[in-house]
Amino acid sequence: MQTVYIKDLGKHEGQTVTLAGWVANRRDSKGLVFLNIRDGYGLCQCVVDEAKISATEFEAASKLGLESSLTLNGLVVKDERQLGGFEIQVSGLEVLQSAVDFPIAKKEHGVEFLADRRHLWLRSNRQWAIMRIRNRIIYSIHQFFQEQDFVQMDAPIFTGNACEGTTNLFETDFFGEPAYLSQSGQLYGEAMAFAMNKIYTFGPTFRAEKSKTRRHLAEFWMIEPEMAFYDIFMNMDLIEGLMKRIVTDVLKDCKTELNAIGRDTAILENIVKPFPRLTYDEAVRIIKGEQDVNGQNSIKSLEDELEIVKEKIAATHVEIKQREENIASGALKKGEINFNQSKIDKLKQELKDLEEDERNIPGWLESARNFEYGSDFGGSDETVITRLFDVPIMVYNWPHAVKAFYLKRDPVDSRFARGVDVLAPEGYGEIVGGGERETDEQLLREKITEHELPMDAFEWYLDLRKYGSVKHAGFGLGLERVVCWVCKLPHVRESIPFPRMLGRVLP
Ligand code: 4AD
Ligand code: MG
Repeated sequence: MQTVYIKDLGKHEGQTVTLAGWVANRRDSKGLVFLNIRDGYGLCQCVVDEAKISATEFEAASKLGLESSLTLNGLVVKDERQLGGFEIQVSGLEVLQSAVDFPIAKKEHGVEFLADRRHLWLRSNRQWAIMRIRNRIIYSIHQFFQEQDFVQMDAPIFTGNACEGTTNLFETDFFGEPAYLSQSGQLYGEAMAFAMNKIYTFGPTFRAEKSKTRRHLAEFWMIEPEMAFYDIFMNMDLIEGLMKRIVTDVLKDCKTELNAIGRDTAILENIVKPFPRLTYDEAVRIIKGEQDVNGQNSIKSLEDELEIVKEKIAATHVEIKQREENIASGALKKGEINFNQSKIDKLKQELKDLEEDERNIPGWLESARNFEYGSDFGGSDETVITRLFDVPIMVYNWPHAVKAFYLKRDPVDSRFARGVDVLAPEGYGEIVGGGERETDEQLLREKITEHELPMDAFEWYLDLRKYGSVKHAGFGLGLERVVCWVCKLPHVRESIPFPRMLGRVLP
């Protein structure tokens, strides 16, 4: 008999097939065992009927613990009510390994509890969906670049020089010499672009981020295209094209997954609209509330929202209290008690989110009001501005003093550098950073000195300005940040199979 994947059941309606997978859920009723089987490609209800199977097999089925592995045979029957539209009527079953007391149950677990069991948590339907979306995004990125004649090349991971400042370098012992885990493949990307014209790297990058935020990982995957003969505006066109491609592909191919995580796709559909391009100056005015966006003012809208959040919190407390009193009154039937209890659980979850907003909004307001012209954007500033938009925005022309040494000085106004940051909407913030590169060797030397970087380690890089230098540009897209926004995750830790961050190196 043929082993098939759950996703392909539609091709086998009316046939008897074999499935191989794990028990995602088990429910017993008189003479019947309902098994929810997952095989990594989908979920399917399999019905074990005492009357249609041997007594030993039925006994085995009725004892199966969560995440036990098994193979089973059965008839594929159409059933619209089921998740994938099909059900299996089991005619035979073999337990491969019987799992006892799988630690992750259906009830809500705390984040640390789940993070400690990431190796098992990955099997949950939600994590499954996120990882499949991540996979689709990775594939889209390769398709997008390969179709446009980019060559994928790999930058080294051990590096002798910093790329993104020296404050968050991981130092290693490289045969007795210090070497750093790469923060970015960009400088090597520039060398490779002068050999191949258009390249992209796709590799792990490392930042010793000492702060715990919902955006920062110590190890993350970055995609860094670098293009000879490109200026900052061509660079922005390319970024926009890539983002549109990624989101369009996910919307087209990951409907089940987006549904599984409850992602509201309306915002993602906006991806077809042009991305607003704002200069740093405009973006600062918007953050400080000196310029409105589509009739919305950053300060005013945060103040209004804080009021609404407070009202909602009060109303939620009242409703919880009422329902608890109803249950305590003893006048409710069992079904009504369960209904009220699950409502209360849901309200308590909503309350947590509301209380988080209540804590956060005053901080966002304060940093927006006190934003100092000339400084880089912090997480709060990015949140404040991106909550006003429904598509990613591009902020370009940054004060050169706060950006990386390699960015080209704006030929029109030398206070600025030709960098661009792409900020995702809904408060997500930076997902891409890039820009046009400085081609003036002397200016670069000054910048390297100003940033207190060792000139020796950059001589190879400066060679690129001596031998056939051309204008060029590129960017770095943080894969996990993009997954995080597309899936609307509360924290970047869910966007990568095994996150590495401050305090987390296991499992
Ligand atoms: O803005 P960054 O630091 O830019 C660079 O590294 C450039 N050399 C890229 C280039 O032009 N080739 O990082 C690029 C992106 C950020 O926009 C963000 O999406 C992601 O990398 N990123 C992180 N993602 C997760 N955790 C962190 N600690 C990250 N730091 C940066
Ligand atoms: Mg950046």
